[in-house]
Amino acid sequence: MTEQRPADSISHIPPAVSPSIGTTLRDHVLAGMRAAPGATGEFTSLLSHISLAIRIILSRVRQAGLANLLGYTGETNVQGEAVQKLDEFANDVLMNVLERSGHCGIIGSEELETARTAGHPGKYIVLFDPLDGSSNIDVCSTIGTIFAVLRRQDPLSPPSVNEALRPGRDIIAAAYVLYGPSTVMVLTTGQGVHEFTLDPNVGEFFLSRANVRCPERASMYSINEGNHARWTEGVQKWNEWIKRDDPANGAPYNHRYVGSLVADAHRTLLKGGIFAYPADKKSPGGKLRLLYEANPMAFIFEQAGGMATNGADRILDIVPNALHMRTPLVLGSKFDVQTFTEFATGKR
Ligand code: AHG
Ligand code: MN
Ligand code: MN
Repeated sequence: MTEQRPADSISHIPPAVSPSIGTTLRDHVLAGMRAAPGATGEFTSLLSHISLAIRIILSRVRQAGLANLLGYTGETNVQGEAVQKLDEFANDVLMNVLERSGHCGIIGSEELETARTAGHPGKYIVLFDPLDGSSNIDVCSTIGTIFAVLRRQDPLSPPSVNEALRPGRDIIAAAYVLYGPSTVMVLTTGQGVHEFTLDPNVGEFFLSRANVRCPERASMYSINEGNHARWTEGVQKWNEWIKRDDPANGAPYNHRYVGSLVADAHRTLLKGGIFAYPADKKSPGGKLRLLYEANPMAFIFEQAGGMATNGADRILDIVPNALHMRTPLVLGSKFDVQTFTEFATGKR
């Protein structure tokens, strides 16, 4: 018969040390999948592949100056912009990983002249800006990656590039990643907005802010003031209005402008206020691209209780006519975007 151990001997065995492991990006997406009827796990797998691409891009961003990755390739992209080595590297990594995933029927990128159909049907369309804020690469300021995911309407049919030309209201998931003091991914799959921070020691994204909400209003504005002379009269009037000396009503606003959409949008999402890249005489259709900059950002801001217009209409309702279609973009707190839109449309 085995000798009975005195009851209290067990109490001396310390409870299992369960480290407080946070919620990983994968846990979060899997939980969403389990709640979605008929989910197959393909979206979770797609996001895992994208997360791998982001971590590969990050590894090069962090060593850019040492890996001869600063500066230009010498080519010009379809936008007519000089291509930076990191633009090209980030694009190549995302293309490679997405094609390898088997889930992506169509890929659209800022760095591709036309959308690319994968060799297999693939359930999803992924549209991305592989490296946003390129002008900040060589001066070590915050840059990022932006992407949107849509579901193909007929996943078994041979993919066609025109399937990418869908309005932003059809997006099923959108995210941006910031390669900044920390590496942060802000993601929505239509169930609110959640922020994940990469633990570089573990190589995993962990939930750092759940249910991010954009404040109703804030005295902060973000715009390239250098374009003032080119704006419409309505936008110039708005610009004077936010600079008036009226502390009782939150004016003058503070001005912040990094010049990377991901950085200016993230600050606006967390602190509130407004980011605007309006149409101007130089860019009458706006500068930012609808499919892989404005739409993903608009989906995220609306999911966080914010707002996104082109200065008149809702961004997510705009029907694209081309992969690289540009649009004016006004993002931020509902009060501030509505006020801007009233000035821009002559109602004030
Ligand atoms: P990208 O580097 O992908 O071409 O994007 C640059 C965009 C966007 O990140 C930013 O908001 C805007 O360009 C800044 O434009 P200006 O330098 O004209 O202000
Ligand atoms: Mn960009
Ligand atoms: Mn870019």
